[in-house]
Amino acid sequence: MSGFDLAVYCAEPERLEASRALAERLGAPLLTGAEGSCWPRFALCYRDGCLKLLDAAAIKLGGLCVEVDPRPGEQHSYPAPKKDLIAQAVGRKTHAIIDATAGWAQDGLALFRMGYQVTLIERSPVMAALIEDGLRRLSEKDWVKQRAIQAPALLAGDAISLLSDLAGQAECVYLDPMFPPKRKKSALAKKSMHVLRDILGDDLDREQLFAAAWAAAGKRVVVKCPDYAAPLGGKPSASFQGKLLRFDVYLK
Ligand SMILES: C[S@@+](CC[C@H](N)C(=O)[O-])C[C@H]1O[C@@H](n2cnc3c(N)ncnc32)[C@H](O)[C@@H]1O
Repeated sequence: MSGFDLAVYCAEPERLEASRALAERLGAPLLTGAEGSCWPRFALCYRDGCLKLLDAAAIKLGGLCVEVDPRPGEQHSYPAPKKDLIAQAVGRKTHAIIDATAGWAQDGLALFRMGYQVTLIERSPVMAALIEDGLRRLSEKDWVKQRAIQAPALLAGDAISLLSDLAGQAECVYLDPMFPPKRKKSALAKKSMHVLRDILGDDLDREQLFAAAWAAAGKRVVVKCPDYAAPLGGKPSASFQGKLLRFDVYLK
């Protein structure tokens, strides 16, 4: 994302220092509301106790932040049952997982709530800042503090290079890169995923990422992809088919 597309907006005076530090870190302008009508499409803003991404094209929907609470329908106990397709794909007996394409961290955090030890990697500095804020909120949750659970670690950078330092440290490397959409705008995809696509575009180096994941994984690589996409690493060892997506499992 170019510096023109994003600003950091300080809405609460008490967050001025944090907002300024974030703006400097991202090389983005800091806005305080006194600038008039010349706003970029996206703004990061500390609001309601979390860091949010505001999209001027959908301002009425409010901002998006990394959700750390269980998803609708997910059990609130810890560890949550390993019953979903994603748990079958990563393996119920697996302990450590590297989610090398963290994004909004929804898959990584669902795996964390199932009791897996999760390391997140994200190369977009904007998404990494949002995840960092989510992990801060997660580590303040009572259920995390009471059980002294270690929140996932976040590595900000390109997994294609970072994974070589993590070789053998996790049984499973999990990938969910951005594939080109089948239709122009899938009405079924979530708003947060539309925004991600608008900010970052498709991940064109998916094959290099798969190669890095294959070299680093202790036992398996799992690729989440849309149902229409060709398998990223050739014929998978197993596939778990969902409604509109698929988890391809590559066993070493
Ligand atoms: C489709 S999103 C992942 C969504 C995520 N599974 C979730 O549940 O929110 C893909 C993300 O992977 C990141 N990504 C893609 N290739 C990457 C790489 N080589 N290294 C690190 N992050 C990468 C993108 O920046 C983007 O944020």
